[in-house]
Amino acid sequence: MNAHPTHVRPAPEGPRPVLARITPPAQPLGPWRFLSTVVRNPLEAWPETIYREPVYTSTVLGNSSLFVMAPNLIRRVMVDEADAFEKSEVLRRALSPALGDAILTADGGRWRWQRRAAAPIFRAERIRSFVPAMIAAAERTRDALAAAPGVEVDIAQTMMRTTFEIIVETMLPGASGIDAARVERGITDYLESTSWVVALTLLRAPAWLPFPGRAKAERAKTYLRDELLRLAAEGRRTGTEGRNDLLSLLLAARDPETGQAMDDRDVADNLLTFVTAGHETTALALTWALYLLSHHPESEALIAAEVEAATAGGPLAPEHVDALPYTRQVILEAMRLYPPVPVVVRAALRDVDLDGIPVKAGTPITIPIYAVHRHAALWDEPERFDPARFAPEAAKARDRYAYLPFAAGPRICIGMGFALSEAVAILAVLVRSLRFSLRPGTLPVLKQRITLRPSEGMPMRVSPR
Ligand code: HEM
Repeated sequence: MNAHPTHVRPAPEGPRPVLARITPPAQPLGPWRFLSTVVRNPLEAWPETIYREPVYTSTVLGNSSLFVMAPNLIRRVMVDEADAFEKSEVLRRALSPALGDAILTADGGRWRWQRRAAAPIFRAERIRSFVPAMIAAAERTRDALAAAPGVEVDIAQTMMRTTFEIIVETMLPGASGIDAARVERGITDYLESTSWVVALTLLRAPAWLPFPGRAKAERAKTYLRDELLRLAAEGRRTGTEGRNDLLSLLLAARDPETGQAMDDRDVADNLLTFVTAGHETTALALTWALYLLSHHPESEALIAAEVEAATAGGPLAPEHVDALPYTRQVILEAMRLYPPVPVVVRAALRDVDLDGIPVKAGTPITIPIYAVHRHAALWDEPERFDPARFAPEAAKARDRYAYLPFAAGPRICIGMGFALSEAVAILAVLVRSLRFSLRPGTLPVLKQRITLRPSEGMPMRVSPR
């Protein structure tokens, strides 16, 4: 068996499966349908044209946003002119109540020093040191699933728990008494409220306005913030001597402009950011990958064969994780079809010229990653699952800015390397031993709540391979 079947394109077996997707409206929606659609699922409010055109201006209730799909323009916004853009008001209103003004939500100098403070923990050698914890968590999940063959499980939840264990073990070692189930429920309840916040921001409604689910989201937020504040205070009390984990990096950081350190609130906001941004996204990438594999047993078999060959039948060791190119291609293709972060929005800080398109200060710029990844001008048969798109030659021939699961430029995901090692390790451990079958007749409904979730989880039965 070829250990690296990078260029293998498995022959499709029988008719092509119908995969979960957004059905965009053929025409832009009128204002009230637009708003009610945003509350249900913001992605469904985008018109079909953004899957074909390089740019599109959306105007709803007097709010204009420039949608940018052309890779050269995405590069201008995210890289070349990055300092002319800041995080959007809608993102801030949706996330800052929970995450404060930490690395994901801050801008300018405040963002820069928080990013610098956290950077050492994402260097390649640190990520390598985390891989054993990733493999061990994957093996615990494999053993738990193997112990209940044929029982239906929600794989979305299983993946959340697996990546949660990993983020706590690697980023918060020694943190005591975290209730994983409560934290996860808290994150879901909070995110559930964000589509209302998006709609109310479009209406320019005041931030205090009530909406369904608001009280639940508030309770969730309070629980999460108190819990992380407790951990930050505990870390400061017990001291950071001899430790070089995320908590000690944050406690030791100093703002180069003011010389100020982070107080417990700043530390807690960053910890909550890393815990949420650092596990939910990877869990979704894995959930969608397993969904796609359940429809593509030929790809599932190629992963199993690749892992067997790389490990010579032995257990997966950290050094194997970088030697599983096909498994990695499957993860990359899963994130093309189902990007865990399906949209990024920025706002222009000053007037900018985007290759001839004038953008006025204050204009929101939407980069609809989900639509860019299925754009007719950028991808051949965009709806088809085909991991060979990420074989080295094919990837090299494509514009870098046609594929943005981790965004790009200075605000690129700080956890990209971590997430890729983790996703490959987990998929390799699970797929070599187990087969995943979606409940027959299930067509998941995509739902954007900042991240891209299956609305009713991912019901699957697992059997030994
Ligand atoms: C498959 C998994 C992941 C995906 C798809 C993903 C995606 C993204 C994207 C698109 C952004 C940019 C958002 C924007 O510019 O508005 C981002 C930022 C960020 N991600 Fe990830 N992420 C993943 C995993 C992780 C992990 C594992 C961590 C931490 C352990 C992490 C921590 C962060 C942080 C802290 C930021 C903010 C960075 C900054 O603004 O400087 N992410 N992520």
